[in-house]
Amino acid sequence: MTESEQLKLALEALCVWYWNGHRDLPWRRTKEPYPVWVSEIMLQQTRVQAVIPYYERFMRALPTVQALAEVPEEQLLKLWEGLGYYTRARSLQKAARMVCEQYKGEMPCTYDVLLTLPGIGPYTAGAVASIAGGQKCPAVDGNVLRVLSRLFAREWDIKAQAVKRQAERELLEAMPEAYPGDCNQALMELGAMVCLPNGEPLCGSCPVAVYCTARERGIQKLLPVKASKKIRSVERRVVCLLWKDGRLALRKRPEKGLLANLWEFPNFLEGEDIQDQLGVAVRDVTPLRAAKHIFTHLEWHMTGVEAQTNDSGYFTWVSPEQLEHEIALPSAFRAYRSIALRK
Ligand code: ADE
Repeated sequence: MTESEQLKLALEALCVWYWNGHRDLPWRRTKEPYPVWVSEIMLQQTRVQAVIPYYERFMRALPTVQALAEVPEEQLLKLWEGLGYYTRARSLQKAARMVCEQYKGEMPCTYDVLLTLPGIGPYTAGAVASIAGGQKCPAVDGNVLRVLSRLFAREWDIKAQAVKRQAERELLEAMPEAYPGDCNQALMELGAMVCLPNGEPLCGSCPVAVYCTARERGIQKLLPVKASKKIRSVERRVVCLLWKDGRLALRKRPEKGLLANLWEFPNFLEGEDIQDQLGVAVRDVTPLRAAKHIFTHLEWHMTGVEAQTNDSGYFTWVSPEQLEHEIALPSAFRAYRSIALRK
């Protein structure tokens, strides 16, 4: 049997397995391109269980492309608060505005057109075009690459773009014409429920175990091989809950770079002088607990201080109620936000 035949048979079996039962996820109850697109963007870097409440709230608040195009940015970011990777939310809105201007508010669902919109790459374009548009195109993410690595027992580097492109070509050739969306979702479902990462696949309940070369050779737990991870750099930061008359100091981050243009508690590198860094006179300085936040290429190892001031400085002063209900604060500051709100 050629690998192409092997993949075709596996995909057929996989679809039958998917039709016989799969997770009832809210975005699977529709084939409209707008909600499918929103869900796929949310799911890019966030786990399914974490996405569900965000997705439901987002669709209630912004049920149409027009609503997304028009919502004030602060409100949009508030809906996204806690999901992280805020560029996704901004790109989503940019794309919604383009859809309103160029496509009369009708969300496109063909692969080539989707690819021209901000924040949509080959994976998202493939997912939306296949699920909502019924177009035969693959949607290859890390989960799908793990499944293919094991199915073909390949020691390829799944981080390499060339490998992703190869997987897309092979899937395109082998996918069923009639139900490409279900085929892609079945692959995602297998990756999420059965063909699990970190050496723990549940081969006993796998619908395509008989087609799996890695299983035949007993090496499924060793795949996919991971190229050695880059070491993240570490920054030690001091985060300040600075109070003035019952209000808290916030400031906007720079327009470029990490967490661009988002709100933050004043913070600075450990070892710097607090008074110099904040530019205001402080009193009643007390230490707060440590916290850690991991970004893609960087870790923040934080300690906190709480302090009082009488000076306004260059900060924006918000009440705890505003912080809770109006301001979108990046998850990196979650520990200190909880302390500020005493919850
Ligand atoms: N991960 C990415 N897209 C998904 C989808 N549509 N369903 C479940 N998990 C996913």
